[in-house]
Amino acid sequence: MIEVSAPSNIALIKYMGKVDSSSNTPTNSSLSYALENFRTTVTVEKNTSPIDEWRPLIGNQFHRIELSSKGKEKFLSHFNLMKKALGLDGFYKISSANNFPSDAGLASSASSFAALTRAAYALKKSMDVSFEISDEGLSTLSRQGSGSSCRSFFSPWAIWDEESAREIKLPIQKLNHHVFIFESGVKKVSSSEAHSRVVQSPLFKTDSNGRSRVERAEKRMSELLASFQEHHWTKSYEICWEEFWDMHELFHTSTPAFTYLTEEVKQTLKKMQSRWKKEGCGPIITLDAGANIHALFRHEDKDLLQSWQAEFEPRIQLGSKVH
Ligand code: PMV
Repeated sequence: MIEVSAPSNIALIKYMGKVDSSSNTPTNSSLSYALENFRTTVTVEKNTSPIDEWRPLIGNQFHRIELSSKGKEKFLSHFNLMKKALGLDGFYKISSANNFPSDAGLASSASSFAALTRAAYALKKSMDVSFEISDEGLSTLSRQGSGSSCRSFFSPWAIWDEESAREIKLPIQKLNHHVFIFESGVKKVSSSEAHSRVVQSPLFKTDSNGRSRVERAEKRMSELLASFQEHHWTKSYEICWEEFWDMHELFHTSTPAFTYLTEEVKQTLKKMQSRWKKEGCGPIITLDAGANIHALFRHEDKDLLQSWQAEFEPRIQLGSKVH
């Protein structure tokens, strides 16, 4: 039996909007930080029945994944693509699970598809040790299953531009990631749906300064890379703050418009911003297509992490709020 795992990643410059949805070609470059502690494990073994099947992977160390029939179809169709790309024959039982709560509203498609891609490759290698594909090659294959998964092959930083995804060396290597979970459960608007709706937002074409979404994202990308190189942490925080709001404004102005932000999340973001202003330090803050607030703290800011947790951790239990 093959068993592999892959990390999720959080984008600071977002992939939102596709030029071509069949190949998941993004409209702009994106930059992500690998979430090594948020992982999906995939196992693959021969099936005696002539079909590929998916089941949740069970184990004390895992949180069970429930895939909808559409989710299963998408996962197995990516496995089929991998079988063709790698020349794998036969039929297989595939199982997967996350080491983080699957009902926490945290995007797990990046880690799931990266782990599935790696599992298919490990299976091929177990049959033919001389078979080689680079991480860049695997990332390009994985991207066809889920765009954001192509960045999960590089750690800690990955950049994905018109060429491909690859590792990018930045001076800050280790950040402490914490996610403030406000919403659990399945998202009302999937990220695939969000990708197709945002291009209809007027802000996608132009904002009040005459800049398109692509121009804004690319400008922030070069400014963010420069701010990391120069160890200008406050600037990095400001760029990431503008970037996640830009993506959420696209959601709020698309047709039909939608939002992931609850009143509680908006209030918390305001308080976080005031604290940053008052103290002149804090974490990089970003939101994905969801209501959870991701915070990246510098290694030296350990005490800050504790005090931010004490101040902002929502009193939520997965599945039900305990106000
Ligand atoms: O890979 P997808 O299609 O689930 O897209 C995810 C896009 C965001 O998570 C919202 C942003 C990103 O760059 O990861």
